[in-house]
Amino acid sequence: MSSLCTFLFLLSLTFTLTSSSSSSQTQTLLSFKSTIQDTKNTLSTWSNTSLNHFCNWTGISCSSTSSPFSVTSVNLQNLNLSGDISSSICNLPNLSDLNLANNAFNQPIPLHLSQCSSLKSLNLSNNLIWGTIPSQISMFVALSVLDLSRNRIEGNIPDAFGSLKNLQVLDMNTNLFSGDVPKVFGNLTKLEVLDLSLNPYLVSEIPEDIGELGNLKKLLLQTSGFQGEIPESLKGLNKLLGLFPDGLCRGGKGLINLSLHTNGFTGLIPNSTSECKSLERFQVQNNGFSGDFPVGLFSLPRIKLIRGENNRFTGKIPDLISEASQLEQVQLDNNLFDGEIPSGLGLVKSLYRFSASLNHFYGEIPPNFCDSPVMSIMNLSHNSLSGDIPQLKKCRKLVSLSLADNSLTGEIPNSLAELPVLTYLDLSDNNLTGSIPQGLQNLKLALFNVSYNQLSGRVPYSLISGLPASFLEGNSGLCGPGLPNSCSDDNKPRHHVASGFTTLVRALISLAFVAGISLVAGGFILYRRSSKGNEVAIWRSVFFYPLRITEHDLLIGMNDKSSIGNGIFGNVYVVSLPSGDLVSVKKLVKFGNQSSKSLKVEVKTLAKIRHKNIVKILGFCHSDESVFLIYEYLHGGSLGDLICSQNFQLHWGVRLKIAIGVAQGLAYLHKDYVPHLVHRNVKSKNILLDVNFEPKLTHFALDRIVGEAAFQSILDSEAASSCYIAPEYGYNKKASEQLDVYSFGVVLLELICGRQAEKTDSSDDSSLDIVKWVRRKVNITNGVNQVLDTRISDSCHQEMVGALDIALNCTSVVPEKRPSMLEVVRGLQSLESRTCIANLQGPNDEPSIPV
Ligand SMILES: *[C@@H]1O[C@H](CO)[C@@H](O)[C@H](O)[C@H]1NC(C)=O
Ligand SMILES: *[C@@H]1O[C@H](CO)[C@@H](O)[C@H](O)[C@H]1NC(C)=O
Ligand SMILES: *[C@@H]1O[C@H](CO)[C@@H](O)[C@H](O)[C@H]1NC(C)=O
Ligand SMILES: *[C@@H]1O[C@H](CO)[C@@H](O)[C@H](O)[C@H]1NC(C)=O
Ligand SMILES: *[C@@H]1O[C@H](CO)[C@@H](O)[C@H](O)[C@H]1NC(C)=O
Ligand SMILES: *[C@@H]1O[C@H](CO)[C@@H](O)[C@H](O)[C@H]1NC(C)=O
Ligand SMILES: *[C@@H]1O[C@H](CO)[C@@H](O)[C@H](O)[C@H]1NC(C)=O
Ligand SMILES: *[C@@H]1O[C@H](CO)[C@@H](O)[C@H](O)[C@H]1NC(C)=O
Ligand SMILES: *[C@@H]1O[C@H](CO)[C@@H](O)[C@H](O)[C@H]1NC(C)=O
Ligand SMILES: *[C@@H]1O[C@H](CO)[C@@H](O)[C@H](O)[C@H]1NC(C)=O
Ligand SMILES: *[C@@H]1O[C@H](CO)[C@@H](O)[C@H](O)[C@H]1NC(C)=O
Repeated sequence: MSSLCTFLFLLSLTFTLTSSSSSSQTQTLLSFKSTIQDTKNTLSTWSNTSLNHFCNWTGISCSSTSSPFSVTSVNLQNLNLSGDISSSICNLPNLSDLNLANNAFNQPIPLHLSQCSSLKSLNLSNNLIWGTIPSQISMFVALSVLDLSRNRIEGNIPDAFGSLKNLQVLDMNTNLFSGDVPKVFGNLTKLEVLDLSLNPYLVSEIPEDIGELGNLKKLLLQTSGFQGEIPESLKGLNKLLGLFPDGLCRGGKGLINLSLHTNGFTGLIPNSTSECKSLERFQVQNNGFSGDFPVGLFSLPRIKLIRGENNRFTGKIPDLISEASQLEQVQLDNNLFDGEIPSGLGLVKSLYRFSASLNHFYGEIPPNFCDSPVMSIMNLSHNSLSGDIPQLKKCRKLVSLSLADNSLTGEIPNSLAELPVLTYLDLSDNNLTGSIPQGLQNLKLALFNVSYNQLSGRVPYSLISGLPASFLEGNSGLCGPGLPNSCSDDNKPRHHVASGFTTLVRALISLAFVAGISLVAGGFILYRRSSKGNEVAIWRSVFFYPLRITEHDLLIGMNDKSSIGNGIFGNVYVVSLPSGDLVSVKKLVKFGNQSSKSLKVEVKTLAKIRHKNIVKILGFCHSDESVFLIYEYLHGGSLGDLICSQNFQLHWGVRLKIAIGVAQGLAYLHKDYVPHLVHRNVKSKNILLDVNFEPKLTHFALDRIVGEAAFQSILDSEAASSCYIAPEYGYNKKASEQLDVYSFGVVLLELICGRQAEKTDSSDDSSLDIVKWVRRKVNITNGVNQVLDTRISDSCHQEMVGALDIALNCTSVVPEKRPSMLEVVRGLQSLESRTCIANLQGPNDEPSIPV
């Protein structure tokens, strides 16, 4: 069909061409004029009078050297012309330059101009050109300059651009192009200027092949829907004027997002960046930039996000930062900043993350440093700060505070105990004195590191029992059970002053007596308050299976040794029941003040799930502070551990089976189970395997147990670094199936590539984030073969490529483009019946037995 159209189209062109080929240039120009509406009569000189040679007409330039004058350039810009652009102009044999910019031509792209045999430059900028670009654009193969900017051209940028190999300038800014930019620019080796900026409907990563254009001097991509990172391939280009020109925003140009992060950029960032009054997001992290950080950025009226970590920036944070009334996030870790932390910082009411660790900040921390009511993450570790830690009262949302490795003195402020969601507190490696405030026991601390200070006195018992002793080491004055020093009053007779810890144990033992071992299925509630008041938590248990276990067994069984991992929501322990059976117990910190009743309803909702790919919840047990969720124990360990292990070499058939099982489990949660649930924390560590490699999802829907607010704040502390979390989570924190699909896609990539999704070892950039790594690879020649796990035999190549395709769809940056889990199940199942599965027991593909 399309070739027929092309044929007819060419036929009509040939017809026009031959029919007028004998006309003189005058006639040609007059004929061109005849279809143009010229309301201002600006082409009045274009007339058939022998007195006025056509070379003297408005906008016409002729070759002046040779005697039969011939038109080389028609420049009719700025004349308010409209009407039709006729192909008759192509009868000028020597026309090389046609400029119709700044007029009102209202039509599709005049493809027939491709018949102008000598045309080198076509400028249609700033008209009313509309419609899509057809693949016949390839007929403009002779052009070296094509300017279609500032029109209303829509649709995708076609692959056919790859044929315009003579282009030096391609300007398509300010149009309505949409979708993904294809990788077609790699062939345009002469390209010097590429402008795709101001196309708000593009949704694309920067095509990697742009990086191969050795002549590129100017690349303008701003204010288009480009996302993701600047491709690795752009690292070598040092002429990207458009990306980072000095005077970027002179004259009030509206740059809103500037993102150059994670590249090899070096050099200075021009001070003039501070002139970008409309700038909202400035991201230059993970490069080699040096010199003073543009100080004016900190006080821009609309700035929301400043990320410059991992560079070699110098400079100070100005007190004027107080004027940045929209500022939400500042990350400047690992640079050479110095000066003091300005008190202006505390005046920014929208700031929720401030991290400036690993710099040379000195002086005292201003008393208001944490006054932002939304402050959630504060990291000033590894600087040279001195003086006392100010009392923190206002930042009620603070989740994480790290002041480690400074020279702070004085006592740990009591007010920390009043911050309701404080979860990570690292004050290690300072010169703090005094005792650890008792009140800190009220917090739900997942990390509390005060090692290497000069603290003294009794350590509050719940801190000792709940956290590894290494968090307390290097404080020779601290005492308590399990520490090198026992407190002097511990030697007195027990019935007089028992330590809190023994009281706890004794109370629990008595609880166990009350309950006996007669706990039965169906929800049995235990309840007892200790006579010693609030020192001992009230424990309540509900079991959905006849577990012969008491809270006492559980508590005793949950220690460093039995801990098999600490997720962001809390540790997981393997506890042996008196019967010898094992259960796994997840300890959740309880944030919300959910009533015992509603907690029971929620856990029951989860415990009723029956699916072969979802771990059973056997019961739970909770106090005011914690919830212990008791799950069935699986002997195969987690998929995550398996992938990490040295000799991970599961056969493809087994990997596919795991993927299908996980997908089925998720599809069940999303669509079949009532109420519909989302997992919200899919990762390979939360996929357990039984001895037959049947996968089971665990730690699902924890939001229902800890509450939405706490769930989000915990996930937020993780989100920036976890590659399982879909990018849109940055701006939309709502639970969605699509977030699960994305995370599943990451797990599938792990299975296909045989590598961990995220490696903490940052020395090797390429191993950082599996999604980015794969995306970079698959676009280069033979790249697909580089991502497939080489430990799997070639006979499975086709199936793996099929799975890779599914994984890439699942990890699409656009949530709407991701398939549903049901579609994923079907897609994966269709890969199952192929030949590669048949020879499952190939000698080299023996499944490894997980530890
Ligand atoms: C001008 O127009 C007349 C009549 O249309 C035509 O005969 C003549 O050849 C034209 N002159 C030129 C220079 O084209
Ligand atoms: C253009 O007009 C000028 C006088 O204005 C004249 O000298 C010149 O010869 C004309 N050019 C042509 C090609 O006729
Ligand atoms: C430009 O042309 C349009 C019609 O094409 C007309 O309505 C308008 O008045 C013209 N503007 C000027 C400044 O001549
Ligand atoms: C104009 O084009 C003709 C035909 O293509 C060619 O023979 C001639 O050399 C060209 N003249 C100039 C000045 O380019
Ligand atoms: C096209 O014409 C406009 C208007 O004169 C100009 O600003 C622009 O630079 C031209 N484009 C190219 C590629 O020369
Ligand atoms: C680039 O050029 C090669 C070889 O000339 C050709 O095979 C390929 O199709 C071109 N790519 C595009 C996108 O046009
Ligand atoms: C800037 O980036 C943010 C977050 O990615 C996005 O929401 C916003 O729409 C972007 N603005 C523009 C003009 O591209
Ligand atoms: C950068 O701009 C700030 C004010 O915005 C000024 O104080 C500083 O001196 C400038 N630095 C340089 C190197 O021009
Ligand atoms: C604080 O910064 C240090 C150094 O950059 C880093 O190692 C640590 O993980 C950060 N702490 C938190 C809680 O983010
Ligand atoms: C911190 O304590 C150590 C050991 O007592 C001492 O050497 C050091 O000078 C102290 N530093 C400050 C800043 O007080
Ligand atoms: C606690 O702090 C000490 C001293 O800064 C450090 O060596 C240790 O690794 C920290 N522990 C954890 C788990 O962060």
